[in-house]
Amino acid sequence: MEFSGIKEKTLVLIKPDAIQRGLVGEILSRFEKKGLKLVGMKMMSLDDAILREHYAHIADKPFFPGVSNFMQSSPVVAMCLEGLEVVNAVRLITGITKSRDAEAGSIRGDFAMSVACNVIHASDSLESAQAEVSRFFAKDELFDYMKSEYEFVYVQDEREA
Ligand code: PPS
Repeated sequence: MEFSGIKEKTLVLIKPDAIQRGLVGEILSRFEKKGLKLVGMKMMSLDDAILREHYAHIADKPFFPGVSNFMQSSPVVAMCLEGLEVVNAVRLITGITKSRDAEAGSIRGDFAMSVACNVIHASDSLESAQAEVSRFFAKDELFDYMKSEYEFVYVQDEREA
């Protein structure tokens, strides 16, 4: 899969707390209004295997079982977003993990108080994004299409980066 220029991709998971609190539309809207391109989206239940892989870096932490239970408490919505330097842009919109310290205006800063119930997950590097997009989406679940507003989201140099 191509992950460069305006075709850089990142993964966002809308977590069970956001599903329960009716925040899916609000969260999606923030990414859309930013000018990011939605290239994949689905609702899914996460099993133990995918969570062990996705959260391998925290698997030995005492809070991992709680994270795993929480992430299985309802389906999540997985989204793949595309854009220039989109991994970084989405992390900025997301805010830091500890939501009560997250900057006002970020999604976590505006909608959450918790470290675990922090409404969304977003890939934290280009390398993680490549692994995570492939983990949650099959190739035929990602869409390549023209977005007419791109003429007003990027200048030509950026579109050709
Ligand atoms: S860590 O601990 O440095 O690896 O933290 P981080 O990479 O930011 O967090 C990874 C995910 O673990 C969750 N997390 C926690 N849950 C409960 N309690 C504590 N103390 C805690 N610390 C981190 C956090 O929600 C992160 O989930 P994602 O999906 O990556 O946001």
